[in-house]
Amino acid sequence: MRLKDRVAVITGGNSGIGFGIAQEFKKEGAKGVIVGRNQETLDASIDKLGSDFSAIKGDVTKLEDLERIFKETNEKYGKLDILVVNAGGGIGSGTLGSVVETAESDYEKMMDLNLKSVFFTVQKALPYLKDGSSIVLTASIAAHKAFSGMAVYAAAKAGVRSFARSFSSDLLDRNIRVNVLSPGTIETPVFGKMGLPEEVISQAKSGFEDLIPIKRIGQPKEMGRVAVFLASDDSSFILGEEIIADGGVANF
Ligand SMILES: NC(=O)c1ccc[n+]([C@@H]2O[C@H](COP(=O)([O-])OP(=O)(O)OC[C@H]3O[C@@H](n4cnc5c(N)ncnc54)[C@H](OP(=O)(O)O)[C@@H]3O)[C@@H](O)[C@H]2O)c1
Repeated sequence: MRLKDRVAVITGGNSGIGFGIAQEFKKEGAKGVIVGRNQETLDASIDKLGSDFSAIKGDVTKLEDLERIFKETNEKYGKLDILVVNAGGGIGSGTLGSVVETAESDYEKMMDLNLKSVFFTVQKALPYLKDGSSIVLTASIAAHKAFSGMAVYAAAKAGVRSFARSFSSDLLDRNIRVNVLSPGTIETPVFGKMGLPEEVISQAKSGFEDLIPIKRIGQPKEMGRVAVFLASDDSSFILGEEIIADGGVANF
């Protein structure tokens, strides 16, 4: 029970990695709020997480939604101990593409969701976060390696990795630690959001598995365990740091 009675907000907690984090937080005694835009998956996630968790529908790219999310969380739970800034992704936030073909509007959408929203999610949470609290940002292995056609997404995630250092420095006087979880390829609904036939998706997954040194895709639960470590006092001497959880891709 490393997070007993801690109150957490997890953006993107209604799907994939964010839901895996919420489930592991629950096991460790935490309660709190998951945030997303899809009411159906918000409801389904709360059914599984139970009554210690609640859902707030909101768009993390809208500053007025962010203000409402943290105000409502504080009204319901009376405090905020942990913030997980996880909402994001390369699919559905502007078309992925290379430097040759990416349009300005796609560049802006990608950056809005994967970099700007991270900055303002943290900023809008700060009035409610307790001194000594922990912030976990989800970046990606893409911050460290080139994947063709993902230049803007990768740059956004590299920016997120940088934010952890700068935010930790800015927040030293409040003892708020900011760290990064950088997943490799993880089994989440993101694959289904590509709008590709099942057969193509399954081929893509096998292709990824071949490239991963431990020869399998990661699971959201495994990301949840890393997030528990970063959110808990077990990581009390770690700030501005990153854990790359990728089955060995970055190092081999
Ligand atoms: N899966 C991977 O292999 C992988 C690898 C590296 C990094 N990541 C990162 O991990 C994070 C989670 O990805 P995932 O794979 O778990 O994807 P996912 O299953 O598609 O989940 C994405 C989550 O973000 C939320 N979201 C997206 N745009 C939002 C917005 N504008 N406002 C509020 N919520 C929004 C979605 O909720 P709604 O749909 O309800 O809005 C959903 O809960 C992302 O930051 C992604 O870049 C994933």
